Amino acid sequence: MTAIDASPVVTRPTETASAPALRPVQEPDQTTRTTRTARALKPDPGPREHPGRLAAARTQVAARYGVTARHADLAAPQVSGTLAAAADLPRSVLEVQLGHRSVRRFLPGPLAPSVLPTLVAAAQSAPTSSNLQLWSVVAVTDPARLARIATLSGEQDHVRDAPLLLVWIADLARVRALAASRSTAVHATGYLETTMTAFLDAALAAQNAVVAAESIGLGTVYLGGVRDDPEALAAELKLPRGTAPVVGLVVGRPDPACPGRVKPRLPQAVVLHHETYDMARQLRSLGAYERRMTAFYRDEGFTGGWIGRVLTRMRGNGSLRGRERLRSALAALGMPSW
Ligand SMILES: Cc1cc2nc3c(=O)[nH]c(=O)nc-3n(C[C@H](O)[C@H](O)[C@H](O)COP(=O)(O)O)c2cc1C
Repeated sequence: MTAIDASPVVTRPTETASAPALRPVQEPDQTTRTTRTARALKPDPGPREHPGRLAAARTQVAARYGVTARHADLAAPQVSGTLAAAADLPRSVLEVQLGHRSVRRFLPGPLAPSVLPTLVAAAQSAPTSSNLQLWSVVAVTDPARLARIATLSGEQDHVRDAPLLLVWIADLARVRALAASRSTAVHATGYLETTMTAFLDAALAAQNAVVAAESIGLGTVYLGGVRDDPEALAAELKLPRGTAPVVGLVVGRPDPACPGRVKPRLPQAVVLHHETYDMARQLRSLGAYERRMTAFYRDEGFTGGWIGRVLTRMRGNGSLRGRERLRSALAALGMPSW
C-alpha cells in the first residue's frame, strides 16, 4: 500500500471523462431560471471515453499525489479522465486567463461528479509556502446550507442557486493537531505572518481552481461575503479552532443567456512599475480608464465609474459589511495573528 490517504473508490475508465463539464449541453429550458427541483432532475449527461490519453493523464495525476500511476484514480478519483478529455479543448491556458469573467447565473442541474476532485487537484497543484499546505476547502451543495450561507454573505442569490460552493479555509488547526499528537509547541501559528501565509496559500489554491474550472467550460464567482461574519460561517461549517474562511467560490455551468462581459482592468502603466514605484505616472494614466469604465458600467445599466466605486467601497464605517472587524474575528476563531 502506498502512503496515500485516498478513499478506496476505483474509477472505471468510462466514468472518468467529463464531457458535460467541458461542453455544456444545450437543453430546451436552459435559458430560463429553473427551480432546484428541476435542477436535480437534470444531472450532467454521461461521460465520454478517451482511453488513449488516460495513461498519460494518470501519470500526471500520480505525480501530483506522489503515488504510482496505478493508484492515480485512488488518490484523485476521476481527475485523470477529466485531464485526458481536456486535451480536446481548443483554448490555451492564456486564453482562459485573459477571457476570465465572473459568472453569476448558472444552468440548473448538478455538476458532473468529476468536477470536484478535478478542481481540488488543480487547487492542490498551486505553490504553497514551504509546502506547509495551510489550507482546506469545504464543498457545499446542500440547498439549505447554501441558503444560510447566502444570507450570511449579504443575500447573494447566485449563492442560493449555486450547484457548488467551495469555501476556502485558512487552516492552522491541522498543524496544531499534529503538534498536539507529538506534544510539540507551534507558537508560530499565532503570528500574523502565519495567518497571512495560510490566507495566501488558500487564495492561490482557489485561483488555480478558478482557472481549472474555466478551462473545462465552467463559470465561477468568488464570494468575499464569507468574511462578513466569519464566526457564524465557521459555526455553519463546523470549522475547528485555528481555521477561518478566506473566500468562497461559486462554481456552475454558465447560463448562456447571461454570459457576462470581460471587465476591463487598469492600464499596465498604472499597475506596472519599472525598477521603482512611480505614483505620478500611474495617476496620469487613470483618466482614460475611468472613461472606459464609466462607459462599461453604462452599457451594463449602471451609473458612475470605477473611481467612485473604489472610494465608496473603501469609505469604511460599514462599507465592508462587518469585515472591518476581521482581526477580532480571527482572534475569536483561534488565529490571534500577533
Ligand atoms: C476576493 C474576492 C472576493 C469577491 N467577492 C465577491 C462577492 O462576494 N460577490 C460577487 O458577486 N463577486 C465577488 N467577487 C468578484 C469580483 O467582483 C470580480 O472579480 C470583479 O468585479 C472583476 O470582475 P471579473 O471577475 O468579471 O473580471 C470577488 C472577487 C474576489 C477576488
